[in-house]
Amino acid sequence: MAVLILGGGLMGLAIAHQLAVQGETVRVLSRRRSEAAGFVAAGMLAPHAEGLSGDLLELGQQSLQRVPTWVAAIEADSRTTCGLRPCGIVVPFRTGAERDSYPTSRFGVPLDRAGLEQEIPGIGGAWQAGVLFEQDGQIDNRRRLMRALERACVQRGVRFEEGCEVEALEQTEAGRLSGVRLKDAEGASRTLPAEQAVLCCGAWSARLLPQLPIAPVKGQMLSLQGPREALQRVIFGPGTYLVPREDGLLVVGATSEPEAGFDEGLTPTGQQQLQAGIAALLPEASSWPPMERWWGFRPHTPDEGPLLGAGPIPGLWLAAGHHRNGVLLAAITAELLGAALSGAGPNPAQQRLLATFRWDRFAGP
Ligand code: GLY
Repeated sequence: MAVLILGGGLMGLAIAHQLAVQGETVRVLSRRRSEAAGFVAAGMLAPHAEGLSGDLLELGQQSLQRVPTWVAAIEADSRTTCGLRPCGIVVPFRTGAERDSYPTSRFGVPLDRAGLEQEIPGIGGAWQAGVLFEQDGQIDNRRRLMRALERACVQRGVRFEEGCEVEALEQTEAGRLSGVRLKDAEGASRTLPAEQAVLCCGAWSARLLPQLPIAPVKGQMLSLQGPREALQRVIFGPGTYLVPREDGLLVVGATSEPEAGFDEGLTPTGQQQLQAGIAALLPEASSWPPMERWWGFRPHTPDEGPLLGAGPIPGLWLAAGHHRNGVLLAAITAELLGAALSGAGPNPAQQRLLATFRWDRFAGP
């Protein structure tokens, strides 16, 4: 019987690919691929620039290490490049004291104003200090990685059902997962039997399992077309970041709007915030031609870490709640879920991470 992947976003595809590589029969159920956070994100690989700490920093660092091998496997299966760019990320600060108190500053190279100007020619005048995280980078998630993963999955025999909404999880009398009830693209309801499924519905995950502490945090974004060589490093400023692709496209993110819930659409305030961020970080980019504007919903959890591994129903696995770090964490998420569902089971290091990020870690004593 096939393992069902509930959600055709980045986590769903990454796990589907991993399970297919392990020899599983895999079927991905996807509602609307365009709303997947994998298409929305800027693609930063930034555990240090994001200033993560504790267990989440460790998870991010472990995933970052795995990214080159993970991407190489996807590229080999899909024969498509993913746009991995280990370009380094600069975090600018107004003062040296702000820089030195950043949670991850010890992992980077400290910069003064002259160093900042060398790394980011044309950087705004307000920034007097910075940290260069050479180990952080980016991947072209929106134009390349998602497509490459889809192709890699197809190549490995994964089946897709697009336009179908999972309405409920079905259980045996003993409480195990027995299948999912879904509405297909024609609007017909039916039950698909399954003994194993992975829930990776991003910000929408709690609609199927209300006990999951996942809520949407809307982010608005835009892109500009810059000259090809204008910016080499990602700039990660407070409230705005600029991510230069190889062809000069500049991806600009992102607002953070928990109060918006699932409200779709752009807002003048959100777009103005991004424009102000561009002007402060790289003034010349304010005159670059606009290309696209879009929005999405980050899946937020109380500690901003993902929910990974066994879920509240035996047979149901979780890979959701990656909040701001989904692209970064896809590689380790695929590995951990692949190990959890494998016959051999996870090794001790994987077991430790799965225990750390179990879904019910927030429950009181
Ligand atoms: N990873 C950046 C963001 O969520 O905006």
